[in-house]
Amino acid sequence: MTKSYDVELHQIRKRFGSTTVVDNFNLQVERGECVTFLGPSGCGKTTTLNMLAGFLEPDEGTLIIKGKPMNGVPANKRDLGMVFQTYSLFPHMTVAENVAYGLKLRKVSKSEIETRVRKVLDVVKLPHLTDRYPKQLSGGQRQRIAIARALVTEPSLLLLDEPLSNLDAKLREELREEIKRLQQEIGVTTIFVTHDQEEAMYMSDRIVVLDHGKVEQIGTPEDIYQQPATAFVHEFVGKSNGFQAVITGGDEHHWRLKTTEGMTFSAKRNDRLYNSGDEVSVYVRPEYISLEKVGSMQETAEEAGVNSISGTVKLLSFLGSFIEVIVEAGSHIITVRTNYSPIISFAEGEPVKLSWNAYQANIFPRKEA
Ligand SMILES: Nc1ncnc2c1ncn2[C@@H]1O[C@H](COP(=O)(O)OP(=O)(O)O)[C@@H](O)[C@H]1O
Ligand SMILES: [Mg+2]
Repeated sequence: MTKSYDVELHQIRKRFGSTTVVDNFNLQVERGECVTFLGPSGCGKTTTLNMLAGFLEPDEGTLIIKGKPMNGVPANKRDLGMVFQTYSLFPHMTVAENVAYGLKLRKVSKSEIETRVRKVLDVVKLPHLTDRYPKQLSGGQRQRIAIARALVTEPSLLLLDEPLSNLDAKLREELREEIKRLQQEIGVTTIFVTHDQEEAMYMSDRIVVLDHGKVEQIGTPEDIYQQPATAFVHEFVGKSNGFQAVITGGDEHHWRLKTTEGMTFSAKRNDRLYNSGDEVSVYVRPEYISLEKVGSMQETAEEAGVNSISGTVKLLSFLGSFIEVIVEAGSHIITVRTNYSPIISFAEGEPVKLSWNAYQANIFPRKEA
């Protein structure tokens, strides 16, 4: 059986004037999936969402929702629920009237409207606020009501554009948990937009990473983090140590590299082929670098496939579940994250040895500045 998709984007392109802001966007979203568009401000997230919603028309490409081509179909005929960053509630209507709005437009009977409004306010856990006006609600409550209003029509697709960006950190975490649970319980196919990589990882079945209107990678949060497809993804998602380097040789398993600052190390080969002299960027995540005291009992011997260098601790930050250590090694500044241990503690100014496995370093062709 062929899979049926709730949303399909085929080679979608959008220009504003002479600038292409969405370029050759291809995506298929399965029923019930939560897919996030992640990327820096201005990368084309909202523009793409607005094309799905019917507020903007693509210049090229085909847009399909539940098997039906949507090009030219107006927003109110697309069966969507939308939630925006800024609270889009009608200020002169009560909570109940706001939530009922979409049902009224659809000419649903008064008694059914009452039942459905009550039910959806239960779902977002605010049944006691029916008679309040938006200005009498907190930011978090307003976003919950906006979500209730989007869900009450039981849309086939839920679109959320940075719905948590205006909330403070604690509330953002609470509400993202709630949205995720709701999304899974109701099973509504969802497209979520954020510039926050942690929020994207938390919310999504799959993430689409965008940069300058181009899709850099589509994958599960784990794929995106562990197997970044491009240098941009490696830098944008999670923390990385990046080195500019030149290929100096290699064998069947590894490339040998020399960084611009003169450090040599090896990195795992992948499918891409390089020649000696090729300029590359190499990345290692801070948690894959191990840190040892110099001359300690734990100090390990040199091993094949393991890179090690010595350095000096410059800065220590205690961050609860881990500590972040900034180490100066020659002219490199390297960030290491390690589990906090009350037994092995480091001090600023202390000499240390850093090591990481060649297979934990990812190489990409040098990114143009
Ligand atoms: N109506 C418009 N006219 C001209 N340029 C626009 C318009 N809307 C957005 N843009 C530009 O398109 C690019 C993508 O914008 P947008 O999709 O809003 O980005 P994001 O939501 O990822 O921050 C930006 O460079 C933005 O300035
Ligand atoms: Mg936006």
